Amino acid sequence: MKLWGGRFTKEENQLVHNFNESLSFDQKFYRQDIQGSMAHVKMLAAAGIISEDDRDTILSGLEGILSDIEEGRLEFSLEHEDIHSFVEANLIERVGDAGKKLHTGRSRNDQVALDMKLYTRDEIKETDSLVKELLTELHIIMKENTDTYMPGFTHLQKAQPVTLAHHVGAYFEMFKRDRGRLHDIYERMNYCPLGSGALAGTTYPLDREMTSELLGFYGPTLNSMDSVSDRDYLIELLSALSTIMMHLSRFCEEIIIWNTNEYRFVEIDDAYSTGSSIMPQKKNPDIAELVRGKSGRVYGALMSMLTTMKGLPLAYNKDMQEDKEFTFDAIDTVKGCLALFTGMVKTMSFRKDVMESSAKNGFTNATDAADYLVNKGVPFRDAHGIVGKLVLFCIDKNISLDEMTLEEYKAISPVFENDIYDAISLKTCVEKRTTIGAPGKAAMEKVIALNEEYLKKPAF
Ligand code: ARG
Repeated sequence: MKLWGGRFTKEENQLVHNFNESLSFDQKFYRQDIQGSMAHVKMLAAAGIISEDDRDTILSGLEGILSDIEEGRLEFSLEHEDIHSFVEANLIERVGDAGKKLHTGRSRNDQVALDMKLYTRDEIKETDSLVKELLTELHIIMKENTDTYMPGFTHLQKAQPVTLAHHVGAYFEMFKRDRGRLHDIYERMNYCPLGSGALAGTTYPLDREMTSELLGFYGPTLNSMDSVSDRDYLIELLSALSTIMMHLSRFCEEIIIWNTNEYRFVEIDDAYSTGSSIMPQKKNPDIAELVRGKSGRVYGALMSMLTTMKGLPLAYNKDMQEDKEFTFDAIDTVKGCLALFTGMVKTMSFRKDVMESSAKNGFTNATDAADYLVNKGVPFRDAHGIVGKLVLFCIDKNISLDEMTLEEYKAISPVFENDIYDAISLKTCVEKRTTIGAPGKAAMEKVIALNEEYLKKPAF
């Protein structure tokens, strides 16, 4: 035992260190860690807990650390456990005894709660602006396509004619709600946990209002135990990010379908497509597929976070260190997907002629043919039956409703007159739908004007 005991213990210690450390990933918020320490130290001096000289020494030390990291002069050496210990040790190395006062009245528990909030708060804003860029692109497509007819689908079967503006407008609403969710989370999370100590506050006369204000929060959090163990805002954020991915994924799925040889509604730009190593004719929608695929990763992060938090007793537990890697990954994934997706949509071309003839050929005007009969006094249920017969007749002859002769119409129902052709034209079918939210041009223009105003509003 003695022969290898010492060595074994040493090796185990290294394993424990490796298992326990978070510096390899929490270095991502070094900026926020230093920002939080600066606010803390200013408050300590203002409250008379440390001297102004010590404050200035610490502040200049922290500034030095920040610029040395940013300019690549200081590397994160992994013998330190986490970013908090790394910065503190480095500060003491630089400025000596004054540096040892930085952590007065603070615990890593309130420190990490603060850093994670500061980091995600910034990322919420960045994600929001990427969603806004996508909305701006969708808005352009909508403005240009209020007359671009296409089939609207239910069950992926052609249903009724709509316009490209209307179809894209559905996604506009989804992404608008996504921004709303990000804003709601921001409003709820923007309270400062700093000053909560390990769990029970501190005996120092900390001015929590001051640090909260210096760091741009609405105010200090109101329960120190909750402050160090609250990760609700991450769960809410991961849920909002999952919903963004779900929307992107649905849109991607449609683009993939529209981009097939069978549909040919769109052509994804070469820059956003890839080829096959064996089949020379192929041009694959990889970017859309990857965005669709990456939703799984983000949903996974949400599930991990929910599961990690489940059953944790108050207050801080080390389990919570697990909040970082998958949250960071989810945020980076969503930001990447939003940027790529926006680029793909921006460069994609729409084959308006194909969309229009697809709408013409799929009996998408059958409901309007029935409404025509209703307007001439036929009860709706009878009209439905009559148009069903028209459709059967057309399928048999492989023609569309507007290609039938008036005699053929009259043979099925004498109520039909020459005005049937106008009544079932794509233009009439769409334009008659003028209630707000419908695809008719007049209704769409109202919505587009509202969206225009919405996009002008400042984000935060
Ligand atoms: N690295 C830790 C985390 O990410 C920081 C908090 C450590 N606190 C503690 N009491 N061990 O959660």
